[in-house]
Amino acid sequence: MDRTLVIVKPDAVQRGLIGEVVRRLEDRGLRVSAIKMIRIDRETAHRHYAEHEGKPFFEGLVSFITSAPSVVAIFEGPDAVAVVRKTMGATNPVDSPPGSIRGDLALTLGRNVIHGSDSPESAEREIALFFEPEEILGYCRDVDKWILE
Ligand code: RTP
Ligand code: MG
Repeated sequence: MDRTLVIVKPDAVQRGLIGEVVRRLEDRGLRVSAIKMIRIDRETAHRHYAEHEGKPFFEGLVSFITSAPSVVAIFEGPDAVAVVRKTMGATNPVDSPPGSIRGDLALTLGRNVIHGSDSPESAEREIALFFEPEEILGYCRDVDKWILE
């Protein structure tokens, strides 16, 4: 089973979209194995977005992601990283098709509602950044036999 880190970003929390974002991922069949609300601090934001350090949008990105509470979660499922990325849509909501989370719920690059890890390696790095092992619960749902082959 694969897993990925999702952040329901501050814009989505402020807009009352936590349930909508989580619901779309759960409806897809993915299982939540950890979830919590946090105010991301600057150090964690820098580490999370380290690949973007030095780019012109970096400071604005860190300011935004630390500006108000976020919800961080781990979603599990087959090809969870790719499934979440496709369900999110493109980085720029303008390029995201209707039906995707960003294509339905967002308009601009810097207020794009959701983060999802971009590779299994990123997912493991990001999960370790936001969660202690004891916060992550392994379990099965009765419905899983109707979702997973
Ligand atoms: P995320 O990491 O937040 O899930 O988004 P992503 O993989 O789709 O996009 P990424 O390239 O990792 O960029 C991270 C966030 O930085 C903002 N961004 N601004 N102004 C720009 O050119 C620009 N490029 C990226 C976006 O908010 C993006 O989600
Ligand atoms: Mg990214």
